[in-house]
Amino acid sequence: MKPDAVKAKGNQTLRSRLMRLVLIPLSVILLIDIAGSYFVVRHVANGVYDVELNEIARELLLHVTREGNDFGFNLSAEAERTLFLDEEDDVYYVIRTQTGNLLAGDPTLPVPKQLRPGKETAYYDDVFEGKPVRVAVLRGQPLIHPAVEPVYIQVAETQVKRGRYMRTLLSQVILPQVLLILIAGFLIWRGVAQGLAPLRRLQHEVGMRSHLDLSPIHTKDVPGEVEPLVGAVNDLMTRVDAVLGLQERFIADTAHQLRTPVAGLKAHIELALRENDFSQVQRALGHLYTSAERLSRLVSQLLSLARNEPHNVVANFQPFDLNQVALRATQDWVPHAYKKDIDLGFEGADKPVLLNGEAVRVTEMINNLVDNAIRYTPSGGRVTVRIMQNDAAHLIVNDDGPRIPVEERKRIFERFHRLLGTHEEGSGLGLAIVHEIATLHNATIVLEDDVDGVGNTFTVSFPISHADDQS
Ligand SMILES: Nc1ncnc2c1ncn2[C@@H]1O[C@H](COP(=O)(O)OP(=O)(O)OP(=O)(O)O)[C@@H](O)[C@H]1O
Ligand SMILES: [Mg+2]
Repeated sequence: MKPDAVKAKGNQTLRSRLMRLVLIPLSVILLIDIAGSYFVVRHVANGVYDVELNEIARELLLHVTREGNDFGFNLSAEAERTLFLDEEDDVYYVIRTQTGNLLAGDPTLPVPKQLRPGKETAYYDDVFEGKPVRVAVLRGQPLIHPAVEPVYIQVAETQVKRGRYMRTLLSQVILPQVLLILIAGFLIWRGVAQGLAPLRRLQHEVGMRSHLDLSPIHTKDVPGEVEPLVGAVNDLMTRVDAVLGLQERFIADTAHQLRTPVAGLKAHIELALRENDFSQVQRALGHLYTSAERLSRLVSQLLSLARNEPHNVVANFQPFDLNQVALRATQDWVPHAYKKDIDLGFEGADKPVLLNGEAVRVTEMINNLVDNAIRYTPSGGRVTVRIMQNDAAHLIVNDDGPRIPVEERKRIFERFHRLLGTHEEGSGLGLAIVHEIATLHNATIVLEDDVDGVGNTFTVSFPISHADDQS
């Protein structure tokens, strides 16, 4: 992957997101600013040129005369030319009496709306002969021979000058603003890129790592916002490191455990091959069989361990009666117990104990517990499997054999852990399997202190609500 390919497919880059968040509001502000500037500039332009229109109107008013009841208008052609001399715009005018009688000018100019009281001159935009015009309308008394009745003078001018003036003003006001926004956008773009540089360095550092290197990522130079993320990743790596360490240890232990029976097999085969005496060959084959059995037990326990690993299991929970399952499993051990002269008993609950779980795995758990109890209890002893229900469902396996020392009670659930001095065969995985199956069922397992100080009692407690949860 290229170093700057921070973007995952379909995901927006942080940079474009930031740009969007900053530039869109900035552009909206710019648009509002342009609209505002347009109105201001228009107002300024009108302010400048409206004064001229008013002056023309006032000049025209000077030429309105009155003799008796009649209005007149007296403006020489020369004076009119001078007054309306304009290289760019066309100027029109009309003078009317209050009653609307035409005194002079262009009668096609539309009659203005009524002027607001108190106002002498009003200005407005209009269209005349298909062209946009600005109109000034002046209400005034003729100065020569003053009259009671005022006259209305309209002066209309096309908007070429104003348009040019506005464009000049607008470009002077808006261009710098657009430039400012563009420069700000560029600076933000570059700033964001520089701000994200530590992230790219981080990506580079992680990308270049060996898959075996689970040491923490350096948080130096990492932005404060990203530090918790790096911390969480470091935390995860520490946990993965611990799990990998456990797995490595397990593989080493397994290899070690497998080596002994395999070496035994090899030694017995070599011995049998060297022997000519048939009875000796038979003896060697007998040992071979025992070693093979030990190996087979170890392999089946390893498989069971892998099968019940909580991370690997897709639980298929079904309701089942713990009472029934425990009774059947215990019954299967009767011949075995009988052979060893162990009194194997079962004390069930007086009604079905319904659990949601996997009956096959729970049977496997009971088998391991009962197997241990029979195996490690001397002949003539007593083993009892008991099912009880109160706020939880309890599976209790009790024996009256030698007690497991208190300091060993936690460790016996570890893989391959066996008590020193045990003469019985075993791979040291049974209780680890029991623990896994208990975890899978949300159950707890404890090895209790016996009140009478004799034997061992393993109690597995299944939460009753668990049954309701899963159903
Ligand atoms: N009921 C018991 N009485 C006395 N010691 C026990 C009892 N159950 C377990 N132990 C001790 O705990 C150790 C671990 O038991 P665990 O079932 O895990 O392994 P194992 O019996 O040695 O091998 P396997 O995997 O074949 O069951 C045993 O080796 C034994 O020393
Ligand atoms: Mg065992």
